Formats: sequence, structure tokens, C-alpha cells
Amino acid sequence: MDHFNYQPDGRLFAENVPVEDIANNFGTPCYVYSRATLERHWKAFDEAAGDHPHLVCYAVKANSNLAILSVLAKLGSGFDIVSGGELARVIEAGGDTSKVVFSGVGKTSEEIEFALDAGVGCFNVESEPELHRIANVAGRLGKVANISIRVNPDVDAGTHPYISTGLKENKFGIAIEHAPAVYQQAMAYDQLKIVGVDCHIGSQLTELDPFLDALERVLALIDQLAELGIEIEHLDVGGGLGVPYKDETPPHPSEYAHALRQRLIDRPNLKLIFEPGRAIAANAGILLTKVEFLKPTEEKHFAIVDAAMNDLIRPSLYSAYQSIQPANTSLDRKSDIYDVVGPVCETGDFLGKDRELAIAEGDLLVVRSAGAYGFCMASNYNSRPRPPEVLVDSDNAIEVRRRETFADLWKGEVVLP
Ligand code: LLP
Repeated sequence: MDHFNYQPDGRLFAENVPVEDIANNFGTPCYVYSRATLERHWKAFDEAAGDHPHLVCYAVKANSNLAILSVLAKLGSGFDIVSGGELARVIEAGGDTSKVVFSGVGKTSEEIEFALDAGVGCFNVESEPELHRIANVAGRLGKVANISIRVNPDVDAGTHPYISTGLKENKFGIAIEHAPAVYQQAMAYDQLKIVGVDCHIGSQLTELDPFLDALERVLALIDQLAELGIEIEHLDVGGGLGVPYKDETPPHPSEYAHALRQRLIDRPNLKLIFEPGRAIAANAGILLTKVEFLKPTEEKHFAIVDAAMNDLIRPSLYSAYQSIQPANTSLDRKSDIYDVVGPVCETGDFLGKDRELAIAEGDLLVVRSAGAYGFCMASNYNSRPRPPEVLVDSDNAIEVRRRETFADLWKGEVVLP
């Protein structure tokens, strides 16, 4: 459930604010987030895990705006990061670095040093060379690095191939059968402290089974490690829980967390770490866009809008479906079937295809479920300034990132004499 609802007069509200007011104040295209929705989704994980020791580490990559991070930091959230830049954002937003887990296959020495200096909670190690690199950097700094090995359990997440990560053919993690040997290598380093096992099998999962299959395999590994004298304090189950974009019916976060907890009844001290991104942010955001032109052609009717693939790339990149609706359903309009496209010079620039919409030029449209992997994947392609981000908190609409100007487009560039 989210806090974007139509009122009886046909207007869409973000919490207590009509989205057309936001468009009037901040222009379009514009991302709009709901604080109450973000908090609700984060708490769904936290409360479902209940009294089992746990930490919800929001995956920063899903939406890294400082306002979003600070809202979650205030709830006591941890953070899953994949770069020095994400760590810098967490620090800037007031996040607790001891609750940070650092994932990613290509951590540089500089990033590892930054993370050790900042006191991150744990490195999720994705390869043997990375293990040695972390040990070297920690040794040089005279620090001890907490580590967890990200294992690849070879489970098919049943999701889009670009966002599936837990198969042997994927670049992520260390093959689960090889993990005990790597843990033994880690044991040999004084400057490494083994604290966990980590696993993330993919994103936008809509079934529980792949999660539970992976869990069984990882729990078997934890037992195997115990026999080798390696004590595991936490199990990081990654992120990946899907959201309803169309007619999917993914498990609710509480159903998911309960299912995991049940498998851990006989392991009351094994701390659970979650790394949800999409399940927290996707349906806490929308993208507002205005219809510039309606362009009927012999083959198709196009609704040309002022948002494009550079603002929201998911439809173009993954053929992802995101619902598109008018911001006001009470207007007297004739319905038609449209491809909703942007102004970018690419045939792949679309937000939705074959959508039935009752619209006219100048109308405001809403792309739903745009809070995750929306703005953070936006670019300046076609020299389009990136849109503003507005966070609604009850009656207040706060601009949490202003629209870029033309001068922002060439920031850092030079004109040759
Ligand atoms: N943890 C790790 C190690 C990850 O790689 C990811 C996402 C997450 C957590 C968070 O996953 P989530 O809960 O959001 O599914 N741009 C794509 C999604 C890429 C996900 C990459 N990794 C999209 O727009 O669908």
C-alpha cells in the first residue's frame, strides 16, 4: 500500500497534496516521493523480523537522494552500499556507518580505505582477489575489517536476466561449494574478522521459493563452516523482493520476513540482515509528466510527453512495465490507445506502449512505481537537465533536489580557446 490515492473528485494526491499543485510549483517532469510510504515499507521489514536479531540495510542504489537516506536513517536503518559515492551519501545524510554493509564486485583500494576509515560494519566479499585486497588495505592501515563472503548459491531467481544475480553464469559472489576454502583463507589473516555469510540472488522476485531455496543452501554452508570452527554471526539475505508494477503478486515484506524467520527458529542468535531497495522505494515514488502533443499516425497513436528515457530508463532498458495514469480522472476526454513516448531521439525512448488513456494535450500524467531505479538511473542524454525530486511529508511538498539548469549540464567542462 502507498500514499498516492485518487480523491473522490478524480484528482491524484501524494499524501495530502494534489500532485497537480506539485506540477504547478516545480514544473514537469518531476519525481515525487511519499515519506509515509517509505517509512511504512521500511517498518514492514523491521516489524516482521520482530524480536529475532536483525538489521534492515536499505539498498542505496535504488534511490540515493539524501532526503530519502535521512528519512530512513532516522528510523534506525542500516545501508547496503556499492561504491565510495554511496558511502559518502550515507555519511552526508547522517547514517550510522557501523550499520553499513559494502557490496559490489569491483571495490577499489581507495574505496576500501575510505570504508575502513569510516568504520563500515561489514564488507561483502565477492571474490578471492578482493579478499586479499581488503586484507592488504586493512593491514596497511592497522585496522581489522569485518567480512562476510557473498556466496552464489546457483538458484534461478526467475526474474529478468539483467537483474538476476544468483546463477553460476553471473559475475556475482563466490560459488557456494568453493566458499569454505575462501573462509579458511580469510581465517589466516589477523586483520580480517569473519562475521557473516551473504547472498543476493536477483531483483524483482515475485515468488518466495527461490529465496527459500537459497536460504537452505546458505544454512547448510553455515553448518559446514561451524564444523571447520568458523562461527557465523549474521546471515545477509540480500534484497530482491519484488513489487507490484502491473498484475504481479509478490509476497508482502512481512510474509517474506516471516517465512525466513520460521527457518531460523532453531538459530535464535543468527542475526538476519536484509538489503531491500525496490520494496522500500519503488511504490513510494511517481514521475509526473505533461502531455506535449498527441500525434496520431496510420500505425499508432503517440502521446509525446516531456519525460523521456533519460529520466526513467527502466521501460527502455528492461522492457519494464510501469503503470501510467492521468493525474485527474474527472476530465472529459476521449479514450484511445497510445504509445507514451519522450522527446529523445531514439526509437527505444518510451515510457509505455499500447496504453489506453483518456487524455488531451497539456494533461498531467503520472508514471507509478518510479521511486526505485528512477532518478538514480537518470542521465543527461540529449542534453536534458535532470528533473527535480520532491518529497511529500503530509501537507508539505519539499524540493529535495532542484531541477538542473543548462549550466549544470556542462559543469566541469571547458571551452577550448
Ligand atoms: N543487494 C545487492 C547486493 C544488490 O545487488 C541489489 C540490487 C540489492 C541489494 C537491492 O535489490 P532490490 O531489493 O532493489 O531488488 N536497475 C534494476 C534493478 C537492479 C538491481 C541491482 N541490485 C531495475 O530497475 O529493475
